[in-house]
Amino acid sequence: MNMHMNLKGKVALVTGASRGLGRAIALALGEAGADVAVTDLLIEGETHDRQALEEYSALAGHFSKAGEIKTRATAEEILAFGSKSCALKMDVTDLEEIKGVVQTVEVELGPVDILVNNAAVMDNLGKFDRQKPERWERDLKVNLTGAFHCTNVVWGSMVSRQWGRIINISSVAGLMGAWLQPSYGTTKAGIVGLTKSLAIEAGRHGITVNAVCPGFIATEAVKLYDAGMIERIEKKTALKRLGKPEEVAQVVAFLASEAASYVTGAVIPVTGGIDLLMI
Ligand SMILES: NC(=O)c1ccc[n+]([C@@H]2O[C@H](COP(=O)([O-])OP(=O)(O)OC[C@H]3O[C@@H](n4cnc5c(N)ncnc54)[C@H](O)[C@@H]3O)[C@@H](O)[C@H]2O)c1
Repeated sequence: MNMHMNLKGKVALVTGASRGLGRAIALALGEAGADVAVTDLLIEGETHDRQALEEYSALAGHFSKAGEIKTRATAEEILAFGSKSCALKMDVTDLEEIKGVVQTVEVELGPVDILVNNAAVMDNLGKFDRQKPERWERDLKVNLTGAFHCTNVVWGSMVSRQWGRIINISSVAGLMGAWLQPSYGTTKAGIVGLTKSLAIEAGRHGITVNAVCPGFIATEAVKLYDAGMIERIEKKTALKRLGKPEEVAQVVAFLASEAASYVTGAVIPVTGGIDLLMI
């Protein structure tokens, strides 16, 4: 292993890691040697109020109903790499729950060195005049304020130890806007603003803050798109295919590592080139 990419001795917390990119990121950090707290709104084996979930987030309702939740399974896979891990229920909109989880992680794994703000909802699709104000508020609360809360809770400990890595998952939608997703695009652009502003303040404390902007990645959620839509996306992407979750996770692992010690305030597209002008 490249020693600069070795995360042994570091503790990571990943939000929204029951599936998709969060799960792939947790696995990549664990494989690189970090001890990882795998957190999500959903945990397999726990009872979820499916109707409430369905109402709050159609995707969460769908995956809860289908039993496709891998929060604990991800922690177990990380244990098999030889790193420590734990799976914890954490809703990023619930500040008290975040504080409790960070305390538990400190006891079980140690203070958080690497925070990955990945949790998000992306199911608010529709034309602007059909957008419901309560969905707009929910998207801000989960996608943007959620990252603010999680960062806030680990910040003091990172400052006191003069080391930290905060990696925010934005989106190509935050750079270019997104058709039929005004609230989502707004929250992801907000994440870019949070990343750059915080990076300025964080630098003097030995903390880097960076954002990764995935294009279309073949996660469970994106695989629910209809075939025609996937084909259109592939056509518009320079590499002519969707990305794999691991291809984003590797960039996050790099940003978490010593190899990225001089990278901060960066906004890194991992898009296969869908953001390039193709005439
Ligand atoms: N997949 C893509 O193509 C793509 C592209 C650009 C950006 N992204 C971003 O990557 C991240 C992950 O995307 P994904 O495709 O894996 O999505 P996903 O919907 O499959 O996963 C999101 C995860 O967040 C969790 N979550 C939702 N609300 C939560 C809350 N309140 N508290 C805690 N956890 C919560 C869900 O349970 C789920 O595990 C998101 O930030 C998304 O915006 C994804």
